[in-house]
Amino acid sequence: MKPFLFVTDLDHTLVGDDQALIELNQHLSEHRQEYGTKIVYATGRSPVLYQELQVEKNLIQPDALVLSVGTEIYFDGTDVPDADWSEILSPGWSRDSVLSITSKYSELILQPDSEQRSFKVSFFLQQAAAEDILPQLEAELLKYKLNIKLIYSSGIDLDIVPLSSDKGQAMQFLRQKWKFAAQQTVVCGDSGNDIALFAVGNERGIIVGNARKELLEWHDEYPADHRYLAKDFCAGGIIEGLKYFGFLE
Ligand code: GLC
Ligand code: MG
Repeated sequence: MKPFLFVTDLDHTLVGDDQALIELNQHLSEHRQEYGTKIVYATGRSPVLYQELQVEKNLIQPDALVLSVGTEIYFDGTDVPDADWSEILSPGWSRDSVLSITSKYSELILQPDSEQRSFKVSFFLQQAAAEDILPQLEAELLKYKLNIKLIYSSGIDLDIVPLSSDKGQAMQFLRQKWKFAAQQTVVCGDSGNDIALFAVGNERGIIVGNARKELLEWHDEYPADHRYLAKDFCAGGIIEGLKYFGFLE
């Protein structure tokens, strides 16, 4: 058995089935101990909301944390985001410009303060309005030459982040830093903000059985042999996928 880089979303992917999570944690801890496998959580949550979940679900300590949809990377339990990564995100990013343009759209409701981050502006946007609003908003932001991208998840969450940032690019940054081949890297997710994890390269992908419509539609459109659609939900689906790819026996 060789070490692998394990990157997973949290809500409704790693977390959601407590019993299966206990089993998966056991496998991952052993693999890390014996082979040097690395564990990374990649979530939309801010540090505050991550801490809440960590305590509630007793999550094992990861080797790195990717928070706020890929805009912050933390190593070894520190609470200061990695400066090299922040530097990559800075050029052309302006929170104030994003805020002033978005303030014209009454359908966009700002998320709580804890979720507004240096490189992330987040709103709630109802699915029914999203189809009209998102293309307009994107065109307007791009007209002002803002280096941004829109990420819409779960029929409600809209994140606006730097173009050079998302979960996929943060994962690649870690993969290259730790020198894991794409074939020795596995990414897991359930919703829109995870598409970047699957789309960025040839890493092995596990889509859990309870995945959201936006991710399933994307997967239908861009199927790939290195991506597995699990039958089981949440951590159960991850275990199924890790066995499918031969990372677990
Ligand atoms: C988490 C974050 C939220 C974000 C969402 C989708 O729920 O708290 O700010 O919009 O993930 O990325
Ligand atoms: Mg999720």
